[in-house]
Amino acid sequence: TSLLLGKMNVFSCFHPMTRQLQLRRGFRVAVIGAAGGIGQPLSLLLMKDQRIKELRLHDVQNVKGVAADLSHVSSPVSVQAMQGPDQIEKAVECCDVVVITAGLARKPGMTREQLFEVNATIVCGAVSAIAKKSPEAMIVIVTNPVNSIVPMAAEVLKRNNTYDPKRLFGVTTLDCVRAERFIGEFLNISPTMVKIPVIGGHAGTTILPIMSQCKPPMKAGRECIASIIKRVQTGGEEIIQAKEGKGSATLSMAFSANRFVDVLFRGLSGEKTPIEPAYVESSVTDACFFATPLSFGPKGIATNHGLPRLDKSEEDAMKVAVKELQRSIQLGVDFVKK
Ligand code: LMR
Repeated sequence: TSLLLGKMNVFSCFHPMTRQLQLRRGFRVAVIGAAGGIGQPLSLLLMKDQRIKELRLHDVQNVKGVAADLSHVSSPVSVQAMQGPDQIEKAVECCDVVVITAGLARKPGMTREQLFEVNATIVCGAVSAIAKKSPEAMIVIVTNPVNSIVPMAAEVLKRNNTYDPKRLFGVTTLDCVRAERFIGEFLNISPTMVKIPVIGGHAGTTILPIMSQCKPPMKAGRECIASIIKRVQTGGEEIIQAKEGKGSATLSMAFSANRFVDVLFRGLSGEKTPIEPAYVESSVTDACFFATPLSFGPKGIATNHGLPRLDKSEEDAMKVAVKELQRSIQLGVDFVKK
């Protein structure tokens, strides 16, 4: 290793010393899809984060205006616009964290999976650029269908010999955020007081809020618990209907992605992190990608806390979710093989 490091250019962004300096100076973050419905509010939230030194906004169009707008905010974060496929490599180069929000959103009546072909092509381009220009970055995927897009991204990284399962994440935080909110409303307490593991994936019955482990305990009848689980699992559809054909969740998703990035930053900075689930490569179940509670460190995942204790109905629901996830994962893997 020392021979290899000796041969590395000390000015290269991949050199471990340079990375340490970068962390001390502040994080370099790219948002891919920054002019979109999620990308814009996420970028605004990131502008408030004093740990960020440089925020790079990439999109295929309209990104210059978004960056200009954000550059009037009284924040020390430097913001840059990069547009089009020619600038994607420049956007992700030497980043600590790259958040991918690019892609199409669902319309009423569509499943997340129906977005797969189009969004997989978009994410594939971004991940290839990261593999080339930022192989050390934490890769945070928001683009749907997360259940298939994350395994697809892993295959792309493997082909480029830069795959590190500790640094590739599918964001499932919105499922946790929804569960906290809906349970908080039911218990008449602040959602910030609710702790509930939400495991599995990010689509329909693969979203598993583990109500038996909720703190404070959910003292409610079976029907009531089932209706909260159902509302979390169909939260995406609820927003699509409310937006009447004008897209899916953007603000609550940006809030959730920002919460996830905050935890990643804490880990990168060597702080003890709160536990946050994400959809990652996993050996916890028979599905080789699965969301479970994680804590984070300077190299990404520090500990996968595995499955929480499950009651009988949660175990049954998990078996269904694992089957569904295996199918979605295969879809992602086959896309790259093709
Ligand atoms: C959500 O859960 O709201 C997002 O995944 C968007 C969608 O398509 O439902």
